[in-house]
Amino acid sequence: MEIKEITLEELDPEKFIQDTIQEISSVVHGRPAINALSGGVDSSAVTMLAHRALGKTLRTYFIDNGIMREGEPYHVVSLFRNLGVDVELVDARDIFFRRLKGLRDPEEKREAITQTFYKDVFGKLVKKCDIKYLLQGTNYTDVEETVAKIKRQHNVLEQLGIDTEGRYGYRVIEPLVQLRKPAVREVAKALGLPEEIYARPPFPGPALAARIIGEVTPERVEIVRKATKIVEEELDKVKAFQYLAILHEDKVTGMREGRRDYGFQIEVRCWDSEDARVGSPTKLPYDTLDRLAGRITREVSSVVNVTYNITKKPPSTIEAV
Ligand code: XMP
Repeated sequence: MEIKEITLEELDPEKFIQDTIQEISSVVHGRPAINALSGGVDSSAVTMLAHRALGKTLRTYFIDNGIMREGEPYHVVSLFRNLGVDVELVDARDIFFRRLKGLRDPEEKREAITQTFYKDVFGKLVKKCDIKYLLQGTNYTDVEETVAKIKRQHNVLEQLGIDTEGRYGYRVIEPLVQLRKPAVREVAKALGLPEEIYARPPFPGPALAARIIGEVTPERVEIVRKATKIVEEELDKVKAFQYLAILHEDKVTGMREGRRDYGFQIEVRCWDSEDARVGSPTKLPYDTLDRLAGRITREVSSVVNVTYNITKKPPSTIEAV
């Protein structure tokens, strides 16, 4: 990999911001550019950098792919509108679910999300507005893990030899590609983003689909979405690196009100980690685990079983898919 990392120790956030703004405006040079905001720290930092560099010539979209967390599209769009960034919400739920239909293999699902995002959704927006540049928040770890073939991060393209201009009709600009997550957080903070954004636990590009083993359907997303909300509410105060709910493919026998109930299994993961390269399960108090199991099985009626993952990364990865 030829990209040179800027470590947290080397980073001067203000200088990085000034240099990056200058670089973006000189490359884009007044031509129309777009970026996708998801509300994660990476895409939020890129949105602010590009907004400062390009002003009104930047069009920022939030793509509702149907696999985000509860209330996320509206919440993120309003937050950025309040910061003066004019974000447009694109409802792309149908096309994502159509492309994901029948797919169960992890890499096939990732590939479907990548193609739907870059080709179907962005390809169309770009053609409509004759846009030449897409800015996105690929970071150093995304590239490193994809190039090492650990897992294909959905936003890594050029480093895999994909010619985005030929394939999708636009060039990709990646202002954060030299930084790992802790450094991106420093930049986000220095850009004046609120703590909710700069300290936000990571959330994967393929969103809740990275947490569904087996087919991704609207019904299965709804189950993992409800479980995710409970896990986030209960574990927010733990201050772990990341915490998530995973929906398993196999159903298991359970019982409710004295009768057999064949239901879903949710696996909870909570990670201690510095930068997601390696991680250990957080030693959660038993009371917390008990509360999680109780709430998930009561509030998500099709779930009869909750487990807690006790594996380290490696050999596990943080997400399930
Ligand atoms: P893994 O699961 O590879 O995740 O250990 C490492 C970190 O990256 C976040 N993340 C992603 N993970 N696909 C992923 O599998 C993506 O496109 C992606 N984007 C971000 C993940 O949540 C974890 O923090």
